[in-house]
Amino acid sequence: MNPLRSLILAAAGNDVIRRVVATAPVSRDVVRRFVAGETTADAIEVTRTLADAGLTVTLDYLGEDTTDAQLAEQTVRAYLEVLDALHAEGLAHSAEVSVKLSAVGQLLDEGLALSNASRICAAAEQCGTTVTLDMEDHTTTDSTLRVLDELRRTWPWVGAVLQAYLHRTEEDCVRLAGSGSRVRLCKGAYAEPASVAFQDMHDVDLSYVRCVNALLAGDGFPMFATHDPRLVPIAEARAEYHGRKPGSFEYQMLYGIRPEEQRRLAALGHTVRVYVPYGVQWYGYLMRRLAERPANTAFFLRALTSRT
Ligand code: FDA
Repeated sequence: MNPLRSLILAAAGNDVIRRVVATAPVSRDVVRRFVAGETTADAIEVTRTLADAGLTVTLDYLGEDTTDAQLAEQTVRAYLEVLDALHAEGLAHSAEVSVKLSAVGQLLDEGLALSNASRICAAAEQCGTTVTLDMEDHTTTDSTLRVLDELRRTWPWVGAVLQAYLHRTEEDCVRLAGSGSRVRLCKGAYAEPASVAFQDMHDVDLSYVRCVNALLAGDGFPMFATHDPRLVPIAEARAEYHGRKPGSFEYQMLYGIRPEEQRRLAALGHTVRVYVPYGVQWYGYLMRRLAERPANTAFFLRALTSRT
């Protein structure tokens, strides 16, 4: 892995760095490039703007690796609140939610995460929308897929995320490519060892293409989550090869990244879903976005040093 990427991902777990970044006066402005804001109202406002521009949304209430049941409960309540707000504002047809199981208790007890995720799924169903389970580091993959299978017994529309950098993912794609199955395919954002993940970005890209094919060959609903200017047209070409029409798969991108490409794809008639994070716990998320692109780090450091 690129040494700068490893360094930034290591910083994501460092408490001293976390305090410095979180309290720097300029952080808030910089964070806003990637995060909608801290409140439900901020999330709704950004959702409306994106929906008005012809895009769809998946909302992520920021937080992860919770080892406190109270915090897990707060996260569940935040999701219930935002789902109510989406419904009340007439936005439930344009926006769903993305949930990290580690934010709702997975590290404490898988059963707690399942029961909390079930409450969110039940609320989403009532509001007329869906839920996708984000995928975290590889130590949680089996647990997350077990919870997914369980949730799908009641809510077959619950979406999964698979990460192309893991050696196992092509097989997971084949298993999850069945009818009604919603699968978001991304490259993967965590620092993973060579024993489980491809280390060379070219190998990750090749794996991504194999996974695109596996998902498109099935009867499910693939969600291609990438900003990669080479992979987007490859996904498009493979979709055409497999006889997929726009509407039988979608593209997904992160809030603040390649917004012009998001609008271009939507103008071609594709469903484009923007992943919109919000909430006060933006630190881990921000660090992963910085790690993806050295230019972001330069931008961030410039902003920090120019005002402090
Ligand atoms: P890559 O990183 O190679 O970037 C390709 C190009 O995209 C870059 O050259 C640049 O132009 C642009 N770009 C990418 N990232 C950028 C950034 N941060 N800032 C500016 N430009 C950037 N991961 C995970 O492990 N679990 C998950 O659940 C999810 N969920 C998820 C949802 C959605 C909707 C997306 C789009 C992504 C995720 N991810 C994720 C993150 C994913 O694994 C991956 O880390 C990022 O999407 C970056 O990978 P790309 O495919 O964009 O390629």
